[in-house]
Amino acid sequence: MAQYQWYPGHMTKAKRQMQEDVKLIDLIIELVDARIPISSRNPDIDLLGKNKARLILMNKADLADPKKTEAFHQYFTRKGYFAVNLDARSRAGMKTIQNTILEACKEKMERDRRRGIQNRPVRAMVVGIPNVGKSTFINTYAGKACTKTGNKPGVTKGKQWIRLNKNVELLDTPGILWPKFEDQKVGLHLALVGSIRDDILNTDELAIEIIKLLLHEYPGSLAGRYGIEEDKDAAQVLCAIAQARNCLSRGSELDYSKAAAIVVDEFRSGKTGRFTIEDPR
Ligand code: G4P
Repeated sequence: MAQYQWYPGHMTKAKRQMQEDVKLIDLIIELVDARIPISSRNPDIDLLGKNKARLILMNKADLADPKKTEAFHQYFTRKGYFAVNLDARSRAGMKTIQNTILEACKEKMERDRRRGIQNRPVRAMVVGIPNVGKSTFINTYAGKACTKTGNKPGVTKGKQWIRLNKNVELLDTPGILWPKFEDQKVGLHLALVGSIRDDILNTDELAIEIIKLLLHEYPGSLAGRYGIEEDKDAAQVLCAIAQARNCLSRGSELDYSKAAAIVVDEFRSGKTGRFTIEDPR
């Protein structure tokens, strides 16, 4: 498999920026991809965010296996995070998030009250790896209804806060976390769900990995989608899919690359089913 590009300079800068931003906030809202809740995290955030309230949004839950999403929900809760399942494109989960934010920051709000500080909103920032849905979430959650607030005393110049309501303010630029690419399994999982650029990995190889995974973890899903038999190895299944979808090249030969592209696309977009490719550990 190809090696992934790695930009230490870029990462160091993002990390330094986040160290600054974290000082300004009470709550970290971390987005993970519900299909790969482990590979879409970077453990650095636990160090950066120690002493902060923590909320994990398991985003793209519409594409993930609901049973495993529930298992991961319990897993994160056991580890002391608040967790919410989400499709960031829809407003459906927003009320739950709102309530969970207040729950997560309860201690801080009580501490404020004891010190006589009244009505200081909770400040939060959104973090996550590229493509996990940070901008979508901020747009859906903050929407147009909210007002942006300018600089305030004690707040670094140039920071924009989005006032969500009287209780919560959100930093308008999300923090970008770098995935742990050096772990090849993490790289593969990110590639399977389409989180890293396609030109880094070969589509034919990806399709074979997807077929192997589905044959093993979700038997029946490829048969259901493509009307093929599953009692074969991955390369033969790809061949059967090419036939079933009539993927032909000019000389009327089967075009495996065309079939591979279909397999990858339909897996990522949820057409083949809702899959989670990791387990809580
Ligand atoms: P980022 O800021 O973290 O980099 O991610 P961004 O919001 O740009 O989202 C990346 C892609 O993921 C977008 O798709 C977005 O629509 C999609 N997305 C975000 N949240 C969800 C979700 O909960 N469920 C699903 N199914 N998709 C989600 P795109 O292909 O880049 O653009 P488009 O298809 O929206 O045009």
